Amino acid sequence: MLRKKNGIWRCLAVPVLAVFVVFASLTQPAWAGRKSQDKKAKTEQKKSAADTSSEQLAESASKADASQYVGEETCLQCHEDMAKSFDEGPHWKTLQDQRRGPAFQGCEACHGPGKAHAESADPTKIIRFTGLSKTEVSRRCLQCHQYGQEHENFLRSAHQKNNVGCTDCHSIHHANVAKNLLVKAQPLLCYSCHLDVKPAFSMPYHHKVNEGLIACTNCHNPHGGFITRQLRSTAGQDVLCFNCHTDKAGPFAFEHAPAKTEGCVACHMPHGSPNPRLLRRSQVNLLCLECHTLTVDQLAPAIPTFHNQAQKYQACTMCHMAIHGSNTDHFFFKP
Ligand code: HEC
Ligand code: HEC
Ligand code: HEC
Ligand code: HEC
Ligand code: HEC
Ligand code: HEC
Ligand code: HEC
Ligand code: HEC
Ligand code: HEC
Ligand code: HEC
Repeated sequence: MLRKKNGIWRCLAVPVLAVFVVFASLTQPAWAGRKSQDKKAKTEQKKSAADTSSEQLAESASKADASQYVGEETCLQCHEDMAKSFDEGPHWKTLQDQRRGPAFQGCEACHGPGKAHAESADPTKIIRFTGLSKTEVSRRCLQCHQYGQEHENFLRSAHQKNNVGCTDCHSIHHANVAKNLLVKAQPLLCYSCHLDVKPAFSMPYHHKVNEGLIACTNCHNPHGGFITRQLRSTAGQDVLCFNCHTDKAGPFAFEHAPAKTEGCVACHMPHGSPNPRLLRRSQVNLLCLECHTLTVDQLAPAIPTFHNQAQKYQACTMCHMAIHGSNTDHFFFKP
């Protein structure tokens, strides 16, 4: 079979391979240790030869030795239609990296050792992702993708906990958006499950997510994290909002306390709002007075008695203009 592709990469592979050979010989003890482990694994593998379901195959995949792998060229002899998605997607790059052996290369990096299947063409002898639980699918992907801040918290994410796995958002062979192998483009991808947040982005004032100016993933990490709402940083610290609204970051000589303690969401609705400036209240004085009255909040001083709310003192930010903090004025009259 002819596949006129990867020519450059196959050439590159030679020097790369040479580097790996040197690397491998330097790390001899680790490799030697693994071989004896593999022998033990082989006998265990024999014992479970009758196992056929994808779950069981997935479980035993980590124990298979190199001889159980046939390489992607063999797979493609029968599955020619998979060549395009494999070659044009990112995962052909796994062929370049030989450090961890055939279990981490090509088709079999995901589908597990394929010798038994390639010889019999029996679909029950290969890992079919449709036969795996969401968690098990994600675990297979995480073998390679669990490193780095972006993905390391997936197993404790709200998505994983609610049975949403990698293949709900990504498709290896049938991606509709090539970049990041997404099943759908944002924000439709997210709306397909989060219909409840959609109306906020159609409000008169909203972050322009539907218009493509910013994405859900600018603020949320779909792969999870330590922070509530899968936010990329805390609403309290607001590093999140400062990514774009740098002028609000300060530090200011005179900080407006809630911007630091409760964060931007104390006053703004992050998705969208019926009110200008994404404010939580339709009139700014109502917003301010939630805190600046005698009774509600001891931390915030009540407005002075001369602030007659029937008159000009309604428009608080006319005078207290530097509401996010000021370097010159205690009362935020000037920036
Ligand atoms: C000798 C031909 C042959 C070879 C070689 C082969 N397969 Fe298959 N494979 C088949 C046939 C036939 C089926 C069943 C087709 C079907 O059910 O649509 C199948 C089914 C599958 C399935 C399940 C498809 C589904 O619809 O659930 C996967 C996954 C798969 N093969 C992956 C591989 C991988 C990975 C390799 C290389 C390690 C490989 N195959 C090598 C012939 C082959
Ligand atoms: C990065 C992981 C990964 C790699 C690499 C990979 N696959 Fe798949 N494969 C999957 C997943 C996940 C599915 C389940 C369907 C889906 O989500 O697209 C799948 C489905 C399949 C199917 C079922 C039919 C279909 O269209 O969905 C076949 C056959 C298959 N793969 C063969 C291959 C072959 C052959 C290769 C190598 C050329 C390969 N796969 C490489 C992850 C992978
Ligand atoms: C809820 C949907 C969703 C789930 C579940 C999900 N992803 Fe993603 N993933 C995305 C989106 C959206 C992007 C693009 C992010 C961007 O544009 O900033 C992405 C990007 C990526 C990237 C490339 C970008 C990068 O920064 O590294 C990888 C790799 C990836 N995901 C792997 C995974 C793996 C592995 C899993 C399962 C453990 C997974 N994803 C689960 C939605 C998801
Ligand atoms: C054998 C290791 C390995 C496994 C297993 C693996 N990947 Fe990858 N993945 C890679 C490599 C290598 C890249 C390319 C990274 C790069 O280009 O820097 C990649 C890239 C990606 C990307 C980024 C695509 C882009 O456009 O940048 C996504 C998304 C992704 N993988 C999802 C998955 C999913 C989902 C699974 C499980 C079905 C999976 N991967 C399994 C090694 C792996
Ligand atoms: C396959 C369905 C599905 C897709 C697609 C999906 N999610 Fe989710 N997501 C869920 C479920 C289920 C939960 C947990 C229940 C809940 O809080 O709504 C969740 C939780 C979340 C949470 C945490 C909510 C909280 O209250 O803590 C955020 C944030 C989130 N998803 C963002 C996204 C983003 C951004 C995307 C698109 C990249 C996305 N989701 C795509 C199903 C999905
Ligand atoms: C400008 C940043 C930003 C963007 C863009 C954004 N979010 Fe949020 N999102 C937040 C913040 C901040 C919260 C937490 C609100 C709170 O705690 O009061 C949140 C909360 C959520 C929640 C939890 C439930 C809720 O309504 O409070 C979900 C689900 C969610 N976002 C999904 C999405 C989806 C889907 C998109 C894209 C369509 C998106 N977000 C775009 C900042 C953003
Ligand atoms: C990825 C960049 C980005 C992030 C992150 C971001 N914003 Fe925005 N924001 C924008 C852009 C761009 C606009 C103005 C463009 C538009 O929508 O008309 C905007 C507009 C606003 C407005 C309205 C300004 C006006 O003049 O009406 C407010 C308020 C706001 N953002 C608050 C926040 C808060 C709070 C957060 C954190 C939860 C946040 N933003 C995170 C990019 C971002
Ligand atoms: C105490 C309430 C409050 C907090 C906390 C707050 N804001 Fe505001 N913000 C306002 C008010 C009120 C306006 C409207 C000002 C006006 O109309 O002159 C505004 C306006 C804005 C605007 C649009 C006008 C401009 O100055 O650029 C942006 C962007 C914005 N805020 C971002 C943020 C960010 C980011 C944070 C978190 C650091 C934050 N805000 C925290 C009350 C607040
Ligand atoms: C979430 C509660 C909250 C909201 C909403 C809020 N503030 Fe504040 N504000 C505070 C706190 C707490 C302080 C700090 C008091 C201190 O440092 O002793 C403060 C301080 C101030 C000060 C300085 C007072 C002084 O004596 O130094 C002014 C002026 C002020 N706020 C005006 C406003 C205006 C105008 C609004 C509406 C746009 C507003 N605040 C909204 C909580 C709030
Ligand atoms: C016409 C200008 C103007 C408007 C409008 C205005 N203020 Fe003031 N504000 C002042 C002045 C002047 C002071 C007193 C400064 C001083 O004591 O030196 C003040 C002081 C304050 C203080 C500090 C009180 C203290 O004891 O430390 C707070 C809080 C405050 N204003 C909140 C508000 C709120 C909330 C609104 C809207 C409901 C508002 N202001 C509207 C001019 C204004």
